[in-house]
Amino acid sequence: MTFIEYQTVVKQLNEWNYAYHVLDTPLVSDAEYDAAFRQLQFIEQQNLDWIIPESPTQRIGDVVSSAFEKISHDVKMLSLANAFSIEETIDFFVKAAKELDISFSELVIFSEPKLDGLAMSLRYENGFLVYGATRGDGQVGENVTHNIKTIQSIPLKLKIENPPEILEIRGEVFMTKAVFENINELAKIENGRVFANPRNAAAGTIRQLNPKIAAERNLQFIPYGIGAYSGEREFSTHSEMLDYFALLGFKSNPHNQHFSANEHHFEQDYQRMESLRESLPMEIDGIVYKIDDLALQEKLGFISRSPKWAIARKFPAQIMITTLLEVDFQVGRTGVLTPVARLEPVFVGGVTVSNATLHNMDEIERLNLYIGDKVEIHRAGDVIPKVVKVVAEGETRRKIIMPTHCPVCESDVKRIENQAAFRCTGGLKCAAQIAERIKYYASRNCMNIRQLGTKLIEALCEQGVLNSVVDIYRLKIDDIANLEKQGEKNATKILAAIENSKKTTFATFLTALGIPEVGESGAKNLARHFKTLEKLCTADVETLQTVPDVGLVTATNVRTFFDDVTQNQLVDDLRAAGVTWDEIESDEISQPFSGQTWVLTGTLNSPRNEIKSKLEKLGAKVSSSVSTKTTYLLAGEAAGSKLTQAKKLGVTILNESQFLEQIENL
Ligand code: IVH
Repeated sequence: MTFIEYQTVVKQLNEWNYAYHVLDTPLVSDAEYDAAFRQLQFIEQQNLDWIIPESPTQRIGDVVSSAFEKISHDVKMLSLANAFSIEETIDFFVKAAKELDISFSELVIFSEPKLDGLAMSLRYENGFLVYGATRGDGQVGENVTHNIKTIQSIPLKLKIENPPEILEIRGEVFMTKAVFENINELAKIENGRVFANPRNAAAGTIRQLNPKIAAERNLQFIPYGIGAYSGEREFSTHSEMLDYFALLGFKSNPHNQHFSANEHHFEQDYQRMESLRESLPMEIDGIVYKIDDLALQEKLGFISRSPKWAIARKFPAQIMITTLLEVDFQVGRTGVLTPVARLEPVFVGGVTVSNATLHNMDEIERLNLYIGDKVEIHRAGDVIPKVVKVVAEGETRRKIIMPTHCPVCESDVKRIENQAAFRCTGGLKCAAQIAERIKYYASRNCMNIRQLGTKLIEALCEQGVLNSVVDIYRLKIDDIANLEKQGEKNATKILAAIENSKKTTFATFLTALGIPEVGESGAKNLARHFKTLEKLCTADVETLQTVPDVGLVTATNVRTFFDDVTQNQLVDDLRAAGVTWDEIESDEISQPFSGQTWVLTGTLNSPRNEIKSKLEKLGAKVSSSVSTKTTYLLAGEAAGSKLTQAKKLGVTILNESQFLEQIENL
């Protein structure tokens, strides 16, 4: 056996794989495939130095260590605005046409099933898969390459001769309905985790540390967009781009269509997809309509997190009828009591529904809802089921009453002035509020102490070890190791994760404090504006309102929070426990390179990371692909296609000494 012959075996197996998993047309029997795969494994064991990254044996790697590395998306991953009717859909494109100064009927609309899975960005460099990253908050996702590689319809190496230098393929990872049912059946028998729906199952699988599990679950991937790109090939339409992805070895969705914009076509297309829905192997929760012309897409751009050239037309909610058995009251992070409907379990669309939200007491009154009534429940996609109306009054009806005392701490319950909500007045004396607050503090969008999950927090609260957020930093190995199912090894890992999370950013810390109405983006705005905690805590309500998107309510909440002695003490305690962040140095706007986008290529004398952080400190954004938005290309020795691309686009090119000169003069 020579290396060339080995490569031929890899190629053959990959061809068979492609035919089976992408084209759905197997070329050989499973037995034949397995035999060849085993032969390949044998050859590789004998010749470890031959193994090439695209070998199918490389799909299942080692178990990864606990946390997933963060990956910053060069091109943001957006989400979509929703439309729930044909009118809303048409309205959206009429507005787009108006903005483009063309007539509505001139638009060519591309229609794709909206796959109900999770968004993924796959980065290929020079044809090889480098990583797969989740969407995260759109800007920063998580590296899940170990599981992505197990998806057979994702090529490890693109199927073309001259692959682009950089290509990020965006698409949906999903699980078919059949696989979902199988794994749930199995889980029931083995007392394993039962998933609520195929989307949760796909997401849960992607978050596994062990790629063997992902490999067994047969996830699939279908592309629908592009992220960072630096390559020769140009596309003028979305459909052309998807055709190109098919050439690269990806699956294409046979139900994609395009049509010229008019009311009848939208209506027809919706009917088509709705009648297809049941028979499709995967769950879809609507249709995505996109303007096919990429130049028009670019002209329209985005508004906040979603494009102005695409919209999701969602299918209506699933409806079911059941009996309201009881209403419980859950105490949230800020003490608000939420009524939760306990229902006679009903099975709908692969999910058993036994709880639904009731929002607040006004809603219960509006519905004229009593315990014992027959009710109609709606469920749309990932939304928590909702009670929408009473269909028949129960023979014996019992009134739903807001408790006068908190079901957890027995403090008085009071109605919040001018609002429908009732709140437990126990504050940080209430165990439920404490536990919810700790959960929130440790959660993904806050301090992101991944090891400290909600179940563990609940157990530690119950043990009386966690009584406040700051107790997280006082945890000892034994506190955790003594709990059921937690060993010393695990406890050490958890403490390490807590320690690591102490270094944060001002904005993240602010989010984690959980000031009412101050979410992630509000916290970012406040951090950017005030730069230091000291300045923020002393700002008055008027000053706070000068921050983008901060209105009177939020400003008052911030002020009230920092005027509260207990909260102030908590902030001090957290900092004393070691929570720190880098000072936000200077205002972005006054930074010398702000608004500039730089791309680095070729071999440079100084380490790339160093140059990158220098540029970022000066306010520049550093991107990995050249586009019309690139301000400068810093080209070192042996620069390749990025240099060509930059020349083509007329981007200013600097060599390393010119770059050093530029920064010296600052
Ligand atoms: S396009 C810039 N196309 O829906 C536009 N999204 O609700 C980005 N999704 O995060 C999305 N099928 O995970 C697009 N054919 C499709 C889709 C699709 C499913 C998901 C995607 C996105 C979410 C937005």
